[in-house]
Amino acid sequence: MEVLATPAAMRAWRRARGGTVGFVPTMGYLHEGHLALVRRSVAENDATVASIFVNPTQFGPGEDFERYPRDEVRDLALLEDAGVAAVYLPVAADIYPPGFQTYVTVEDVSRRLEGEARPGHFRGVATVVLKLFNGVEPDRAYFGRKDAQQLRVVRRMARDLDLPVEIVPCDIVREPDGLALSSRNVYLTPEQRAAAPVLSRALLQARSRFADGERDASVLRETVRSIVLTQSRGTPEYISLADDETLAEVSGKVEGPAVLSLVVRFGQTRLLDNIELSPPNP
Ligand code: PAJ
Repeated sequence: MEVLATPAAMRAWRRARGGTVGFVPTMGYLHEGHLALVRRSVAENDATVASIFVNPTQFGPGEDFERYPRDEVRDLALLEDAGVAAVYLPVAADIYPPGFQTYVTVEDVSRRLEGEARPGHFRGVATVVLKLFNGVEPDRAYFGRKDAQQLRVVRRMARDLDLPVEIVPCDIVREPDGLALSSRNVYLTPEQRAAAPVLSRALLQARSRFADGERDASVLRETVRSIVLTQSRGTPEYISLADDETLAEVSGKVEGPAVLSLVVRFGQTRLLDNIELSPPNP
């Protein structure tokens, strides 16, 4: 496995390589969710590149950029074991050279939900993902459904800018009790960790009402809210039932593919989860 530190080294490696390349961008501190993306890419491409870069521009002031968990030695061992051909490990000074002033803004789909809670977050994500794509030149790039809005922002950017890459969505990997894996789960106290499965429990309960025919968006949101409030001490920040592509809130009835998502705050830690709902075709 090669470790490439600069955009120029990354691109030279790519250009010397034939066949298809799959790419898995990450911020490191890898868990089974990341590794599921890696394994899928290894299975579907001639070679897989993973990147590890804690991207400063997607963190707001007062967020956890400085204390974001890091373990490069362990990450590299996991990637090597999983069959990755090359790891792209740039430093911030190479991604954001002095005088840097060019950003990608994906408009509507970035503004809602996480975009409202974290202004500038998706501008940072879109910009770094495009820059990583420019280094790696992948045929396919793998993103988790865990970050539902990120996936939709990246997909929109790829379509709008004619990027020659297929964006491949991958299912959420969960703990046995339902908690979606996340590098930030290490911030939870034991009590918060014990309460955290309430997110997936609430989503599954709403999905089961949906399967039983409930189509009223506000009833489905309320189902989630009342479970979070009665079964945990977490504070719901938002509960959204939105159009699957644009993430515009559904008013009235759910008539097409939709995504039900929520953020619950436990102390300083925001936990994020979502589930997709699709009405059966008539
Ligand atoms: P990071 O949070 O490290 O996540 C990297 C990828 O792993 C993302 O596509 C994310 O959706 C996916 N992922 C995380 N937890 C998952 C889980 N439990 N199941 C399935 N997939 C999961 O997302 C980022 O990094 C950054 O924003 C990045 C795209 C790298 C840009 O900086």
